[in-house]
Amino acid sequence: MTNQLTSKFVILAIITLIFTSCKTETNSAQSSSVDKNPYAAQVDSILALMTFEEKIGQLNLPVSGDITTGQGTSSNVGKKIKDGLVGGMFNIKSVEKIKAVQKIAVEESRLKIPLLFGMDVIHGYETTFPIPLGLSSSWDLELIEKTARMAATEASADGINWTFSPMVDISRDPRWGRVSEGNGEDPYLGSRIAEAMVKGYQQDDLSKNNTLMSCVKHFALYGASEAGRDYNTVDMSKIRMYNEYLEPYKAAVDAGVGSVMASFNEIDGVPATGNKWLLTELLRDDWGFNGFVVTDYTGIYEMMAHGMGSEEQVVSQALNAGIDMDMAGDSRVASAAFIKSLKGAYNKGLVSMVEIDTAVKRMLTAKYELGLFEDPYKYCDSERAKKEVFTTENRAFARKVGAESMVLLKNENNLLPLKKEGTIALIGPLANNAVNMAGTWSVATQQEKSNPFLSGLKTIVGNTANILYAKGSNIDYDLELEKRATMFNKDIPRDGRTDKQLLDEALSIAKKADVIIAAIGESAEFSGESSSRTEIGIPQVQKDLLNALLKTGKPVVLVLFTGRPLELVEENENVPAILNVWFPGSEAGLAISDVLFGYVNPSGKLTATFPRSVGQIPIFYNHKNTGRPLSNEEGQFEKFKSNYIDERNEPLYPFGYGLSYTKFDYSNFKISTNSINMDGTIDVSVDVTNSGDYDGKEVVQLYIRDVVGSVTRPLKELKGFQKIEIKKGETKSVTFKLSVEDLKFYNSDLDFVAEPGKFHVFVGTDSRTKMMKEFQLTK
Ligand code: BGC
Repeated sequence: MTNQLTSKFVILAIITLIFTSCKTETNSAQSSSVDKNPYAAQVDSILALMTFEEKIGQLNLPVSGDITTGQGTSSNVGKKIKDGLVGGMFNIKSVEKIKAVQKIAVEESRLKIPLLFGMDVIHGYETTFPIPLGLSSSWDLELIEKTARMAATEASADGINWTFSPMVDISRDPRWGRVSEGNGEDPYLGSRIAEAMVKGYQQDDLSKNNTLMSCVKHFALYGASEAGRDYNTVDMSKIRMYNEYLEPYKAAVDAGVGSVMASFNEIDGVPATGNKWLLTELLRDDWGFNGFVVTDYTGIYEMMAHGMGSEEQVVSQALNAGIDMDMAGDSRVASAAFIKSLKGAYNKGLVSMVEIDTAVKRMLTAKYELGLFEDPYKYCDSERAKKEVFTTENRAFARKVGAESMVLLKNENNLLPLKKEGTIALIGPLANNAVNMAGTWSVATQQEKSNPFLSGLKTIVGNTANILYAKGSNIDYDLELEKRATMFNKDIPRDGRTDKQLLDEALSIAKKADVIIAAIGESAEFSGESSSRTEIGIPQVQKDLLNALLKTGKPVVLVLFTGRPLELVEENENVPAILNVWFPGSEAGLAISDVLFGYVNPSGKLTATFPRSVGQIPIFYNHKNTGRPLSNEEGQFEKFKSNYIDERNEPLYPFGYGLSYTKFDYSNFKISTNSINMDGTIDVSVDVTNSGDYDGKEVVQLYIRDVVGSVTRPLKELKGFQKIEIKKGETKSVTFKLSVEDLKFYNSDLDFVAEPGKFHVFVGTDSRTKMMKEFQLTK
């Protein structure tokens, strides 16, 4: 979508809109802290000067940028800024435009309070990294942190000072399109990634001109939307929330995140946006968060549809619950918004001035922390933007990250890596498309400049092999579905030819090839917001193409593009090699080719379970045992046990799974003691030998099971991992230190405790590992 941003027309229209409206109307990483606020005196002195309207203005975040990520846009924003009725803006792109808008705030408004400029900088800025689900599959925290750091450098060079990231919603439901935006199903891994991202964006100094204030979202539990349908109801026990869903948000708070975004869903029957337990008791009182909370889009207005009452009732409920800033409430689609109804609510006694002042203080504090009062243009250096955005160096890093995120799902008879020889046929609707390569939620990306697969392949192969290409099919037979899965101009233009003509062309080149690469799967916007699916297979037209290619008898490599775990039973059965590339980002083609030809040995591991069928959903590795577990492991049906009559219990590919071109053998698994007390620690060690033919990286995973507890505990829980590089023939020893903290969980009183008793500890290559030792925790 971003390149349409560069459309001169749009830019002009926006700037004109802002200025015209002005003219016509002229008639440590520290979180913001109100309590221990170093800026308290300055904030108070500004507050004392503010009118009621100007206070509400600070809480107003209108949409009037180039990028519209929802249904709303605001009008007359220039005039509103001038009147002190705007606290920040989001999704405006470029130093020039941001500078122009900031100028109105600091030169033409009465109190000259600078604006915040937010954006969905989710997995990179113009240089785009793999979608977050892909990035999490790298299990490489340093790498992930560096992506956030680079995104912050680029975005801040281009005028942005606030990002709506990281998204840390745990999800166990691949029907939900937004699984693509998160880090998968595991709270431990999700928490480590949340910390890394916050650190990457904020560093330890928000006032630096190359850091961004981070906003953890969507608080909370959004990933548990019923039936995977976006924006749907969430209903969950507190014990499940605490043990399985809340940890990554808390990790972001503990890492000093500056802001939090409330989620669209309800929690315990109350929409998150108006949920005082969530936004105040849990977030501020229990977790000690001191920054500000923003709604997700028109979340306040949406409380009316949730059945929470009138305009004045919902705005007061939101403010009283702990919302500080109202995103997009000012837009035409929303009738309830702080800017529209807070005064009325105040006049009726539904909100107090203390509540309003508290929210305003939080917003002003954030602006102090960002250094905006000192220099409102500190993020607006056009020279920096020219030098630091979408650089050759950043793109080289994106290429590396793209390759690190890929997951090899199958590799029969070592078909991969491919040799650079003979004739290679690249076939599929995703083979030669730039704009889809960045994947969903990449609003600032240079999508036309992304490197398509075909181009990367040609670069890598050079003239050592002959490359043939055919599109093979459209994304889907159904044009309507294709349209629904197109947003932000990430289109795969439908081919004028018939399905048969496309297929015939593909088969004619396939016949000439020694090996076929099928570049198929979802297009970028098949996942993401408002892209839920009930069937999660490869779209039928592409399945038909794949089957026809397999029938040629030539070796076929499936290069799978997807934003979610897909149902791939048939493909796993029939296709010899499957490389899941997600959406690899700006340098997709080169990154994929690096892996296909063995310049990079794949080391990604799944962070979300791939089911065998939709009927198994929700499916996740850290489930409970039940009172009637199966007694066999071969998936045979057992009557009156917890299983299905028509499907096995296990997934197709489990959490933590991913192959390599080499082979890793585990041996010498040891624990340092069989018994620890409440102050003790235990060393868990294992040797990993690379016994294959290539150097490679392995993600060594550690799981525990609390065998007996006052409440039921999962069969396995990830509690540690290390990604290590091992040369062929080499053995490396890996040691983990487990402490009592790692054995704790929330009991039925929601106390975080470790209970004495028997524990199992596992190490291995994925969550199915059976390498187990036992120890006791004593009082
Ligand atoms: C999404 C958020 C996003 C916001 C602003 C909403 O629709 O749920 O994730 O940050 O729009 O673009």
